[in-house]
Amino acid sequence: MRRFAACAAAVLTGSLVLAGCGSDAPDDTAADLSVNAAYMPQPVSGSMAAGFLTITNDGGTKDRLTSVTSDVAGSVTVHKTVGGTMEEADSLDVPAHGRLVLASGGNHLMFEKLKRKPKQGEKVTVELHFAESGTVEVEMPVESATYIPKTGH
Ligand code: CU
Repeated sequence: MRRFAACAAAVLTGSLVLAGCGSDAPDDTAADLSVNAAYMPQPVSGSMAAGFLTITNDGGTKDRLTSVTSDVAGSVTVHKTVGGTMEEADSLDVPAHGRLVLASGGNHLMFEKLKRKPKQGEKVTVELHFAESGTVEVEMPVESATYIPKTGH
């Protein structure tokens, strides 16, 4: 929980059960998610936008991103890119002690039926719904349409 409290970009609104507490098997720990590198390129169209972020799981249990909601869009879906074309994914896995990366050219969030057009400098509130961890709310900054994130880990 402390990890989320310290991170301005992500607020955990669901409850996290630490199933592994007191066990000597360290890999029994519950999924422990943090979200970073979230951004939305300012959409060129008034009806559709993309979103990118990285979800890190420091726990020993895998989790699954099952759905996404946002107050700016009537519909948010999770897309994966397969051989240059994108298709909707029912869910995406966040491996134990691993990461789920949504980045330009790969997996991404697709905002459709926009209720307003997000502009650079604004923030969009996005709720990520997980099978294990419940709902994680993310403030996703809107960047320029041509923004390219710095990589480096
Ligand atoms: Cu897409």
